[in-house]
Amino acid sequence: MSEYATMVKQAGRATADKAVANGWIDGPAKPVAAQPKLKLVRGDKSEAPADFTFIDLFAGIGGLRRGFESIGGQCVFTSEWDKYSQKTYAANFPDDDHEINGDITKVDVADIPEHDVLLAGFPCQPFSIAGVSKKNALGRAHGFEDKTQGTLFFDVARIIAHHRPAAFLLENVRNLIGHDKGKTFQTIKDVLTEELGYTIDWRVIDGRSWTPQHRERIFIIGFREDQGFRFADLKTPDAAPKLRDILHPGDGSEVPDQRFTVGNSGRVSEKYTLTDHLWNYLQRYKEKHQAAGNGFGFGLVGPDDVARTLSARYYKDGSEILIRQEEGKAPRRLTPRECARLMGFDEPQGNEFIIPVSDTQAYRQFGNSVVVPAVKAVAEHMKPHLFKALAAQRKVAVG
Ligand SMILES: C[S@@+](CC[C@H](N)C(=O)[O-])C[C@H]1O[C@@H](n2cnc3c(N)ncnc32)[C@H](O)[C@@H]1O
Repeated sequence: MSEYATMVKQAGRATADKAVANGWIDGPAKPVAAQPKLKLVRGDKSEAPADFTFIDLFAGIGGLRRGFESIGGQCVFTSEWDKYSQKTYAANFPDDDHEINGDITKVDVADIPEHDVLLAGFPCQPFSIAGVSKKNALGRAHGFEDKTQGTLFFDVARIIAHHRPAAFLLENVRNLIGHDKGKTFQTIKDVLTEELGYTIDWRVIDGRSWTPQHRERIFIIGFREDQGFRFADLKTPDAAPKLRDILHPGDGSEVPDQRFTVGNSGRVSEKYTLTDHLWNYLQRYKEKHQAAGNGFGFGLVGPDDVARTLSARYYKDGSEILIRQEEGKAPRRLTPRECARLMGFDEPQGNEFIIPVSDTQAYRQFGNSVVVPAVKAVAEHMKPHLFKALAAQRKVAVG
């Protein structure tokens, strides 16, 4: 610094400013304008902002998510603790800007972003309600924490309690209704309505209207403010798809997939045919139970049939859905690709869904999941009510 500059600066701020303004001395370096932080558009797929946000709990391979993306939703949080399901989920939703969170019981509600809709296909666990009446007797208030603590439904409830989303969709097996003589379902309804204050409606929906599979699941929808949503108004399509629609045709009309089929004709690989040993065992087992008057046993089906429910244990013996083959040959299991179609993750004959895991894991994941077009139909049915709720919410926020 020159002697003059030192002198001017020592003279005080006003003199220094004047000297800088006249160009006699250099002024202090101007701070560089802060660069705007790069803001990722979630999903990064479209420029258009999403119509609403949702979170995907017990996400599995994202069957519920697909339904709510189809009506304009954007997933802002995912929880799934199984590493193989995470792998499939990540492969099929590669553009997310959020990580897949693990064990939901360890997640602090404050770390979950705000959202308009909560989705949860929570595993059904027994509820111990034994403690409730004791607490009542002691005159203690009992909220949902007392009723459901220690169950995964409790984690759903505590997230709803904290974030109070405009709506939620819970999905479970049909047996939830009669579980523990109806007490479990009653507790769930009580918590959702009385403790959390939501208006709910529920319905058992069979996936067979959309794919050739008899699969009954209960869907529970809740709205924070009653929007007049009625499940009874949901019309299921009359279509009755048959297994023919989802099986590998094996006649060269399908793009061959060397993982599941062989040759240019796309014939199903022999590895899916049951060993004679297993086939003999299943037949003996069925005979034994039939003689005892029980209906257990395998489900042997062909192209003109509808399959039983694909279960998470299908990888074990495949007994609930066995595909008939030529005379004298043991039947075969579905391939994982056929399971993707049976669950509606792929179109009939389609093969877009990425299956990055072993056949065993893939069977487990599809068997745990939902019939995607059924969820889309439910989401479509919710849409006008949801959008009405969100519009009212925005009005309140602005006004
Ligand atoms: C019935 S499946 C739901 C499948 C899902 N709806 C789909 O479309 O694939 C329940 C899922 O919850 C996961 N899960 C169970 N307990 C969990 C926990 N404590 N935290 C996170 N995920 C959990 C399981 O690994 C399983 O994938």
